Amino acid sequence: MKILGIETSCDETAAAIVEDGAKILSNVVVSQIDIFKEYGGVIPEVAARSHLEAMMPVVNKALSDASCTWEDIDAVAVTHAPGLLGSLLIGTLTARTLAVLHNKPLYAVHHLKSHVYANWLENNTLPVFPLLALVISGGHTQILYMPGHNKFEIIGTTHDDAIGECFDKVAKVLGLPYPGGPSIAKAALNGDETKYKFPHPKVPNLDFSFSGLKTAVLRTIQKELGLPISHPSYDLKNHLSNKQICDFAASFQKTAVEILTEKIEMAVDKYPETKSIVVAGGVSANEKLRDALPKAYFPASSLSGDNGAMVAAAAYYEIQSGVKPTDPYSLNIYPRVSIEN
Ligand code: KG4
Ligand code: ZN
Repeated sequence: MKILGIETSCDETAAAIVEDGAKILSNVVVSQIDIFKEYGGVIPEVAARSHLEAMMPVVNKALSDASCTWEDIDAVAVTHAPGLLGSLLIGTLTARTLAVLHNKPLYAVHHLKSHVYANWLENNTLPVFPLLALVISGGHTQILYMPGHNKFEIIGTTHDDAIGECFDKVAKVLGLPYPGGPSIAKAALNGDETKYKFPHPKVPNLDFSFSGLKTAVLRTIQKELGLPISHPSYDLKNHLSNKQICDFAASFQKTAVEILTEKIEMAVDKYPETKSIVVAGGVSANEKLRDALPKAYFPASSLSGDNGAMVAAAAYYEIQSGVKPTDPYSLNIYPRVSIEN
């Protein structure tokens, strides 16, 4: 079964064709990073306009890269929740139109579900149920309990910022380019991770909080520079040496990785029947985190971020679980809905 997966929930315009939820026949991702580097973050209206321009060329390239025509495609899948409203609209309207035009069943997929299913792509050994999924992206930080395919229970979530958002905000203070995750990881390679100590948040159970860590980094920078806490955060980068930037990046990354690994270890203690740990979402590209969780499943780094292949994989397992196609004439978008709904 060949599924065309379409993803436009944030700032990547992506389409891919995947066979039987595993084999990637094509995977086209057009990133808007170069546009948003200038602004230091995503501007939703600009993202939506860029999706509109890139969408059909991306879909057509996905078809030609896979040497497929519409005859070969069995279903269309698209991210309909959660994400930026305008961005989700472009992807879903495209998928709805294509499904009607080519008479294909349409499946609407939750973005976090598709991140999790990136772990089933091109993987020789597959995760085993029941499993725990740590979903870490720019918008989410959750631990999910999965007793089987397509079944999700949220057992931990963030009370404030997402971990990727925290990487992005700390990077901004340090004057490192957007997106912050990869630039912090790069700067950290030349830094001393033991140089600065940041407290771990005291959040009960399996929940997270990252706004305190972001503030701790800010205060430590101000203290290090002998500046008052009233000193604006956007100006601090102008006072930091290269060495200090790298040390802060490394120390912050070390703390972030420790917090994530501590919580996933707590989750395994609480759910001793767990057979696999799966890590997913943009932050799962982080090498230090990969080193810290050697037994966990991670997607190929190229599949950690947003892409269409994971949407197609998630749809395949929805179909296997008996989910029926959605009506292409009425499919709605849900910018904020939870994976449990
Ligand atoms: O899943 P994703 O591509 O988009 C969302 O669904 O949000 O995740 C993007 C996030 C950004 O915050 C980015 O800084 C972070 O993933 N990220 C990383 C790394 N690569 C991307 N964070 C830490 N280390 C990385 N290597
Ligand atoms: Zn994502």
